[in-house]
Formats: sequence, structure tokens, C-alpha cells
Amino acid sequence: MSIRIKMLLSFTGMVVISLLFVLFTASLYTIAATGDLQSFRDIYKVHYQVNPLTDQGEAIFQELKYTAKNSPDDLQDVVLLREYDMKLRVEKSGLFVRRESHQIFESLTFNQPELGRALPPYDLNNNQIRSTFNISERFYAYAKFDFTFSDGERGSVFVIRERSPVAELTRKLLPVMSLLLIGVLIVTNLLLYRWITRSFIKPLNQLKDSAERIKEGNLAFQLKRNSNDEVGQLSEAFESMRNQLQRSNELRKLDEQNRKELISNISHDLRTPITNIKGYIEGIRDGVANTPEKMESYVNIIHAKAVSMDKLVDELFLYSKLDLNQEPFLFKTVDIVDFLEDSIEELRYDMEGKGVVFGWFNHAAGPVMASVDLDKLQRTVVNIVDNALKYMETDGQRRFGITLDADSEWITMAFMDNGKGIPEEALPHIFERFYRTEPSRNSATGGSGLGLAIARQIIDGHGGLIWAESEKGAGTTIFIQLKRLTEEEVRHGESQHIDH
Ligand SMILES: Nc1ncnc2c1ncn2[C@@H]1O[C@H](COP(=O)(O)OP(=O)(O)OP(=O)(O)O)[C@@H](O)[C@H]1O
Ligand SMILES: [Mg+2]
Repeated sequence: MSIRIKMLLSFTGMVVISLLFVLFTASLYTIAATGDLQSFRDIYKVHYQVNPLTDQGEAIFQELKYTAKNSPDDLQDVVLLREYDMKLRVEKSGLFVRRESHQIFESLTFNQPELGRALPPYDLNNNQIRSTFNISERFYAYAKFDFTFSDGERGSVFVIRERSPVAELTRKLLPVMSLLLIGVLIVTNLLLYRWITRSFIKPLNQLKDSAERIKEGNLAFQLKRNSNDEVGQLSEAFESMRNQLQRSNELRKLDEQNRKELISNISHDLRTPITNIKGYIEGIRDGVANTPEKMESYVNIIHAKAVSMDKLVDELFLYSKLDLNQEPFLFKTVDIVDFLEDSIEELRYDMEGKGVVFGWFNHAAGPVMASVDLDKLQRTVVNIVDNALKYMETDGQRRFGITLDADSEWITMAFMDNGKGIPEEALPHIFERFYRTEPSRNSATGGSGLGLAIARQIIDGHGGLIWAESEKGAGTTIFIQLKRLTEEEVRHGESQHIDH
């Protein structure tokens, strides 16, 4: 059974129960007001006129009528009349007998001086022998019979019963009230139903549609939250789930794309040296290298290609281990000034051999301690310096400089060259694997595009930052920022192990 039908049934049930309850209360009220159950039942007959008396009262009336027809003068016998009246009193009724010249008998039951005047005129045809009348607020029902006394004077006998005005009012108002009540309840029911449908069924249907869309793989939509209630919260939770799913879907696609690119890049980068090696070996086999000089040059080329392949495979292996978090970091507390000075010592010779002017500027006061994996940080520096040398195509003097700055929190190293720079649009990508500003992937002018990607993985593993600033034609600066250890940390020999 759908919620819609359940709601409809429960509302209708509520309406019916309230209605029954109201009817029950009304009945109780009417019984209380009129004094007996019979009166209440009477209300639903159009009856006071048809049936104004109780059964016993009616029987007495019939007796009186018979007497009026057959021996009308007996109805002047007050003793007899009082007897009848006593019997009627039990039925909450009373007797009234009149003749044209005077009133013969009036029951004491009603204590109503106006009674004589309120009674209907004589009608010997007895067209309407049962009816009602009221004297101001009091309401009476009667049965009457008109006849003639033996002397020819007209007379009437009345059996009168007083009815409660409240009962009369109830009789008139109850159907109207009931109808009104039913109307109000139906309208309320409809309004409630509409409200509930709007606040529950609609959003639930929306959720159902959304779930179906997701099932079909369509995640590109938005689910709006319409309310602050539980259904609204459910919509919001659903929306965040959809968002999450969409994001992970996109990530999965990106990963897939990356994987394809990775395979294609690796195959490309490996194929080039292999093709070269194959070519030179075929040259040797076919006797093209027919002089010892040629032979030596061929073998040197083959060796160089094999070395570059070895380097590539090595880089790839390191990169993938870093990427999979499978490369362990061996952290040690190190003075970065010492570290850089040692590195520079090794680099200086190489640089100056290539005609590069080298500068080292330490702006940090005192030892600057950090927790680092020395080998890996060394590798990072080598990759950066390698690039600087490789891409420093300038007509004038080639310069390379390293600076060190430190505040209480961070140590910042900068590696500056005055090379050709990196185009602005390429700058955000240079730390991506296999990214090269020159898309030709020509190994003569560049590497495989893994150097800076490895550098970033290593610095990430240290909880540090690495970024580049560059101006085309003016040079490039690569910054590395590492967390500085406080004196306290150094004293306690705590080398912060950075989980990565
Ligand atoms: N100092 C620099 N000056 C100009 N361009 C640079 C500099 N450093 C990096 N680049 C650009 O960024 C790209 C990415 O550098 P990265 O070191 O990651 O790769 P690579 O040097 O091409 O190859 P690999 O380092 O693996 O041999 C380079 O191809 C180069 O275009
Ligand atoms: Mg490089």
C-alpha cells in the first residue's frame, strides 16, 4: 500500500472517528438536555405533530376521544378528568378540557396561565388533531378532539405534553451542525492531505527519480532541498551522496585516463632508445661500422642509450614507489645549511665545468634544523639543478644561485637560474608526471618529465611545499619549503616522523 493511500486512509479514519465522537457527544448532550432517550429518538422522526404523545398518553387520549364521541357530557365530570390527568402526569403530560362558555379542566402539570389562549380554535371536522404550539420559550405538543356537548355547545379535549425547547433547538440545529461539521472535516482532510503530499510524497518521489537516474549512471543533476524537516535532511544527505559519487566517478575516469597516458608515455619513452640501440646494433651486424673509430662511436652511442634507458627505468620505478607510498622515508634531524653546503660542494665543480657562474646565499641565522630523508632531499636538489643546467639556453653568462631563508616555522630554499624560463600556461603543470613544456618528447632536448614529479612526491612526503616561479626569457626559481624544528624538538632528539 502506498504512503499516499495510507495517509488518505488514516486521515479519513481520523475524520470518521472524530465525527462519531462528535455525534456521541451531541447525543449525550441531547439526552442530558431532554431528559430521556425516547426524546432523542423522537428528534429523528418528524413526529411531534404526527406522534405528540407517549404510547400510554395516546391510549388515554383515545379513551377520552371515545368518551367525547359517545357520552360527551361525561367530560364535564371533574373527578373523572382529574383521574385521567393523574395518569397522564406519569407520562409528563396533562389534560385540558374546554367548552364554549367556560373552561372545564386544566391540568396543574404545566403551571402555564397562558395555556388556554394558546390553544387552537374549535374545528368540529377535526382536520388536524395533532400539532404543536409554543408559549414564548416553552414548547408543547398535543392531541385534541373537538366535539359537541348534548346541549349543542362545542367542546375540546386536549392531551398536552410539554417538550424541551433545547430538544427542539437540537432537532433543528443538529442536522445543520452535522452537515457543517462533515463539510469542515472533509475540507480539513483535503487540506491536510495536500499539505502532507506536498511535504512528503513529492520530495520522496523526487528522491526515487534521482535514485533511478543514479542507477542509470546519470549523476549530473542537482537535488534541491525543499524543507528543513527530516525529509529535507534526507534530500540533503542524498544530494551529498550524489555529489560524492559524482566526484569519485570523475576521479575514477581521471585515474583511468592517467593510467592510459602513463602506459603510452612509458612505451614511447622506452621505444625510442630501444629503436636506436637496435639500429646501431644492426649497423654493426651489417658491417656499417667498418672502421675501429666508427665501431667505437657506435658502441658509445649504444652505451649512452642504455644508460638513459636505465635512468628512465630507475626514475619510473622510484616514481611509482613514491606514488604507491611504498618508498620508505628515513627521517633524520639535519641542519639544512650543512646539507646545502655539502650538496653545493658536489655541484659546484660540475657547474663551473659547464661555464655557469654559481652563487650561494645563506640568509638564515644559526643552524636551521629539519627532519629530512637526506638521500631523497639530495635527489630533489639534483633534479632541480639538472633542469637548470639542461634548460639554461641563454646567450649571455649562465648563472645559478641557491638561497636559504628561515623563520621560526619554515625553512625556504630557492634555486634560481637565468635560463629560458617556463611559459605561464605551463607553470602549473611542471610538477605533473611526464609533463614537459615541449610536447615533442624529444630526448635530445629534455628528459622524460619525471624529475619534478619525483621532487614533488619527495617534498610532499616531508610535509613540505614545492613550487616554481618563472619569467619567460628571464629565468626560473624553484622554491622548497620545509618545516623547521624548534630548539626544543631538536634537543629532545625528536625527529618528526612525517607520515605520508
Ligand atoms: N629550470 C627550468 N627552466 C626551464 N624549464 C624548466 C626548468 N625546470 C623544468 N622545466 C620544464 O619543466 C618540464 C618538467 O621538468 P622535469 O624535470 O619534471 O622533466 P624533464 O626535465 O623533462 O625530465 P627528467 O627530469 O625526468 O629527465 C621540463 O620538461 C621543462 O620543460
Ligand atoms: Mg628534469
